[in-house]
Formats: sequence, C-alpha cells, structure tokens
Amino acid sequence: MTMRRPFARLTGLGVAVPEQVVTNAWFEERLDTNDAWIVERTGIRERRHAGPDQSVTDLARIASMGALAQAGRSPLDLDSIVLGTATPDRLLPSTACDLQAVLGANHAAAFDVSAACPGFLYAMTVAEGLIASGQSERSLILGAEKLTCITDFEDRSTAILFGDGAGAAVLERTEPSGDRPRGILSTFIGSDGRLADLLYRPGGGAAHPISHAVVDDRSHFLKMQGREVFKAAVRSMADACDEAIQRAGITADQIDLLVPHQANIRIIEATAKHAGMPMDRVMVNVDRYGNTSSASIPIALDEALQQGRIGPDSLVLLVAFGAGFTWASAVIRWG
Ligand code: COA
Repeated sequence: MTMRRPFARLTGLGVAVPEQVVTNAWFEERLDTNDAWIVERTGIRERRHAGPDQSVTDLARIASMGALAQAGRSPLDLDSIVLGTATPDRLLPSTACDLQAVLGANHAAAFDVSAACPGFLYAMTVAEGLIASGQSERSLILGAEKLTCITDFEDRSTAILFGDGAGAAVLERTEPSGDRPRGILSTFIGSDGRLADLLYRPGGGAAHPISHAVVDDRSHFLKMQGREVFKAAVRSMADACDEAIQRAGITADQIDLLVPHQANIRIIEATAKHAGMPMDRVMVNVDRYGNTSSASIPIALDEALQQGRIGPDSLVLLVAFGAGFTWASAVIRWG
C-alpha cells in the first residue's frame, strides 16, 4: 500500500506514573508467589500503583501538559483529543472529555478509543486519519490507565502483572519533504473478537451491570487465560511488526529501535527474535512498570528518548497487542 505519507509527526511526548512503587516482595506477603517466579516468568520486578485519589484523568493531565510543553503548544491549539483506555474514570462521559475540561482544550473534539493495550497506537492511527482527511491539524493522543482498579488482588496469575500510568503525544500535520521525511511512515491495526474470552472483564458493563452478585463473584475484575494469551500475543506481535515494516517500505535491518508493548519479557524477546532485532535495539522497561496497558508504549518511548536511544531521523518500530484480541504497529521516522 503506497501513499503520500507522512501526514503527521509527533512534536511532543509526556508521561505520568504514580509515585508508589510496588515490588514483588509486596505480593510475596499477600499471595502464594515469589520474586524468583515473577521475574523468571514475566521479567517484572516492580510496578506503580495509583492511590485512591489519583484518577486516570489526573495521570492523563500530567502527561498531556508534558507533551504540550515539549511541542510548544497550548491546550487551545488542539482540535482533537483521542484517548485510548481500558479503564475509563467513568463509563459516561469519556475520559477524553474529562481531560478536555481539566486542560481547558475548548476547541477540541474529544473521545475515547477502546482497544485495550494497543490503545495508544489505535489513537495514533485514528488521529493520523483525522489529519490526513483534513479534519484535524493538531491532535493530542493518549494511552492512560489505572489497571489496579480492575485487577483482582486475590488472583496471583494477574495481580502481579499490571501497573498504572499515562502517556500523551501531540500529533501535528506535516508535509512530506526530501528523501527522508520525518513523521509516521506506517500504521497497522487489527483485531480478532473470537479471542475475547482469553482476556476480559465480565461484569460492570451493560450485559452484566454492577450488582451485588457481580461483586460477590468478583466478575468486575479482569480474567485471563495467561498461556493462551501468551501464544496469541507472540503471533500477533510478529505479524504486526511485518505489516508496519512492509507498509513503511523499509526493511527490518533499518529499524534503529523496537519499542514493544511491555507485557512480559518473554513476549518481547520472541517479538524481537521474529523481527531479527538484537535485544540492544529493543526498549525494555517492563521490569520497572509492569504492564500499564495502553500507557506502556509512550512510557517506554519517553524513556528511550531520555536515554538518547532515539534521535532525529531514527526509525522506530512500535508494536502492541491486547484484549479483544487487538494488535497494532507503526513505523515513525523521528524528529
Ligand atoms: N506465582 C507463582 N506461581 C504462579 C503465579 C504466580 N504469580 N501465577 C501462576 N502461577 C502458577 C500457576 O498456578 C501454574 O501452577 P500449576 O502448574 O500448579 O497449575 C504455574 O504457575 C504455571 O502457570 P502458567 O499460567 O502455565 O504459567 P506461564 O508460564 O504461562 O506464566 C503468565 C503465566 C501469566 C506470566 C504468562 O502466561 C503470561 O505472561 N501470559 C501473557 C499475559 C499477558 O501478557 N497479558 C496481558 C496482555 S496485554
């Protein structure tokens, strides 16, 4: 698929993570688990938990202010806000609208995207489309989560995995120029609803509204068949890498840094192996944040930038998978 890309480039990035660090030792005190098992099976050593007074909107606001400052823009410059989340503060209205209000981004159209862990990449794809079709000049895209609100802390197979956080980026219209135009070179999104029951939250929506029965059987919490999710994740991440690379018209050896969704070190290693990327060209911070769902890609991207692993003209491959099943990828030439 060839087209007149790039339409859009990222001009600012910001993140927010809660202060409270929760180590594996915290779980050892509460569940039948241990640090060695968690590190070996997941690569996670610690994660951040938001406090009861810290909402998804609070985290998203901090991340947004960082992204806007880096882009040199004010909230009033935004004409769209697209927010990926699996843990909206309220089911109505969208968290994007709550964020719009606290930012004072009064000229923006704001809405959430429900795509689980690839939520940030889905938001990027939607916003790029708004820009390409002439409906938006400048969009704020986010992945923002408080996974701990839907985590069952009595279930050792899921409790250890998740953390809270948010990431935001400003996406602005650009014109392709020169041999190496900077911006989004490709995006790819996909899903398979037949795999929904591998990872889902049965209660709390319209099918099973919150009730005493729902709370009593803990079905307002996330349920997961870990081993099956693992296999589907490895498959979909590999395919998504291939698609984004092919659509960008490049080859894997040209990629400077792979920034994968941070769910599990073994899934990351399998994805890197498939893409033919040595681990020194792969961003990993799952050890310190766990799985922050849609926030994981921007949090990892931001850290890679801080570490100087991405600079002007770097080719960056982003890839994620999650509940749905959903998957997504993108290639960006940075700067
Ligand atoms: N501590 C100790 N043992 C644990 C444990 C924990 N926290 N969680 C599960 N176990 C046990 C299981 O009960 C099982 O015991 P059994 O053999 O006596 O029944 C054993 O470990 C193996 O369980 P299994 O589920 O096969 O382990 P695994 O190697 O697949 O690892 C996950 C479990 C969850 C770490 C792994 O499947 C995974 O990461 N899957 C993908 C999850 C994911 O990324 N989800 C988010 C998608 S965005």
